[in-house]
Amino acid sequence: MSYDFKTRVSRKNQGSSKWELMYEWNPNVSDGVVPLSVADMEFKTIPEVVDGLKKYLDEAVLGYTKAYASFFEAVTSWCSRRHGYKIENEWIVTTPGVVNAFFGAVNAFSEPDDGIVVFRPVYYPFFMAIERNKRKLVNCPLIETNGYYTIDFDKFDQLTKNPKVKMLILSSPHNPVGRVWKKEELEKLAKIAIKNDIIVVSDEIHCDLIMPGHKHTVMASISPEIEDRLITCFAPSKTFNLAGLATSNIIIKNKEMRDKYIETLTTMRSIAVNIFGYKACEIAYNEGEKWLEELLQVIDTNQKIVSEYFEKNFPKIKAPLVEGTYLQWVDFRALGLSDAELEKFMHMDAEFFTDEGYVFGSEGSGYERINLAAPSEIIVEAMERLGKSLRKIYK
Ligand SMILES: Cc1ncc(COP(=O)(O)O)c(C=O)c1O
Repeated sequence: MSYDFKTRVSRKNQGSSKWELMYEWNPNVSDGVVPLSVADMEFKTIPEVVDGLKKYLDEAVLGYTKAYASFFEAVTSWCSRRHGYKIENEWIVTTPGVVNAFFGAVNAFSEPDDGIVVFRPVYYPFFMAIERNKRKLVNCPLIETNGYYTIDFDKFDQLTKNPKVKMLILSSPHNPVGRVWKKEELEKLAKIAIKNDIIVVSDEIHCDLIMPGHKHTVMASISPEIEDRLITCFAPSKTFNLAGLATSNIIIKNKEMRDKYIETLTTMRSIAVNIFGYKACEIAYNEGEKWLEELLQVIDTNQKIVSEYFEKNFPKIKAPLVEGTYLQWVDFRALGLSDAELEKFMHMDAEFFTDEGYVFGSEGSGYERINLAAPSEIIVEAMERLGKSLRKIYK
């Protein structure tokens, strides 16, 4: 490894959402415990971005700034190089985060009381975008077979035949179950969406985080017909751990839709990105590929540590390997605990801070989502700490 994925970073008293949440959950947490919840990383920041921003700051005037030529060049080149997806500058709408982007899409392309489909268990801000904007959440639960999740296409077809259902918000790859949807699956989904006149928001924020042996397919590549009704969300924030810079790139090819989207975001004053966000995105996409390749190796090592630990010590707890994302979805249902009991056990007894499965919808009850983006030593320590407490209750 030429990059440092081993140094421990302490984010205590730095305002880190993930760390502050840990202290809220358990104010007496032992020193040295690192939370494995919220999807950001416990590594030192990618050095190319740190050095590049320092250099930039020497010269930059920090005034109002719009997306500019070399930023667009970096984004279009990344999409083409990494995903074989050719986009044009005009298709890109920058937003201060992907969550902002899909809140905007809900407002732009649906009306109050319209139905919007999600595949639960799924990233819970999807529910917030739908319900806080007074739309109806239409759940089409994923089908789980021995820890492997698939889409219920018949149900999706049946639900979207209802003319009041207008939109799908898709997580691709899927957070939290870690599926990288296959081309054939996306083809089926697209076909139904086109037939039933459904607008698709394809949240592809995790698309660069793909484990060996798997390949991400960009939804837009499925057909021009789906691309014509598609909002694709990309960002460097998960890939390079730049979420604090709140910068994402939303791709809409259809001009009429794009104009409507921009109009809505402008009304919400939700369209500008900060000057460092543009620059960090540009640097990461231009210079970050080698760092990313090494990061993926660390994530793959970590998911195997977790999976093998359970298999060897607590075989009734199932931690299948993920296909994409750095989030491992672990089935603790064999413990027979309620959600409240499992949460208390994790936070108070085991000092094991993950995201509780139930927050992703009731289908996630009894599961935990472990964030793998930390030095392997921290993952090993966390597993051993959990194991010590588990031994007392595991039968
Ligand atoms: C599927 C998905 N979309 C969006 C986000 C967050 O996006 P942002 O920080 O750009 O708002 C996350 C964060 O984990 C995510 O998992």
